[in-house]
Amino acid sequence: MEVIAVANQKGGSGKTTTSINLSTYLALRGKHTLLIDLDPQGAATTGLGIDKWSLKKTIYNTLIGDLSLVEVTLPTKIGGLDLVPTNIDLSGAEIELVSQLGRETILKHKIEKLRDYDFVIIDTPPSLGILTLIHWWHVRHSSSRSKRNTSPWRE
Ligand SMILES: Nc1ncnc2c1ncn2[C@@H]1O[C@H](COP(=O)(O)OP(=O)(O)OP(=O)(O)O)[C@@H](O)[C@H]1O
Ligand SMILES: [Mg+2]
Repeated sequence: MEVIAVANQKGGSGKTTTSINLSTYLALRGKHTLLIDLDPQGAATTGLGIDKWSLKKTIYNTLIGDLSLVEVTLPTKIGGLDLVPTNIDLSGAEIELVSQLGRETILKHKIEKLRDYDFVIIDTPPSLGILTLIHWWHVRHSSSRSKRNTSPWRE
């Protein structure tokens, strides 16, 4: 399983567009793909046709609560592409995670438990806050291929 985080602290630099297009392409090529929306703006969630305001479970419940990624995953209209959605609730996680021990590795450990995916793509927010730290920790300690793909605009 390859994990690719699409990251750039600059806003509006194409992270979400790249995340959606890349994950859609991979799914259409027959690769079972999971897109994790780690940006409270929820643009990847909306972009894949999910109403972010009606969500009962999001990535927030995985980072703060006990739910696994599988438990918050939704299918999309694209065969082979699943989504871990998000909405503005995730912005609260920034504050709630400050005092949580091992916060940097929560997502890493939950991703490691996934078994069914060929690719995991992470769309990230335009910041250097805790949410960004969470995905960077994962990528920095992942394979070199994931590392190479973390910042598509800086290759
Ligand atoms: N390769 C591209 N060429 C031209 N325009 C693009 C390209 N990729 C994205 N855009 C446009 O740039 C704008 C910002 O894209 P996008 O939302 O993907 O950026 P982002 O980095 O995810 O933003 P944010 O930091 O707010 O999450 C959108 O209007 C999008 O259509
Ligand atoms: Mg975005």
